[in-house]
Amino acid sequence: MNVTLVICVNSRVGDQPSCGPSGGEALADRLEILLKERNSPALLERILCLGQCWEGPNLRIAPRGPVFHHAKLEQIPEILQALEEHIAKMSG
Ligand code: FES
Repeated sequence: MNVTLVICVNSRVGDQPSCGPSGGEALADRLEILLKERNSPALLERILCLGQCWEGPNLRIAPRGPVFHHAKLEQIPEILQALEEHIAKMSG
């Protein structure tokens, strides 16, 4: 089963909080490059809303992995660590 890093990149209308412009797009761009560089078996999926817009940028590791709220570029090592651990757990 593939492990997927699901990142909200939604840009909602008006001044509603949304993940894309508050850092979700930048996170997705950076993580996409890092996964390729590492030859990671994980997929990256950009989605439009995880339903928790006030806590964004939001991302989650699927299936059944941890969720990150208010995610920041500085958390990328932590996110990649959680991803590696989840891949190991799911394949073990
Ligand atoms: S805009 Fe990201 S969770 Fe809704």
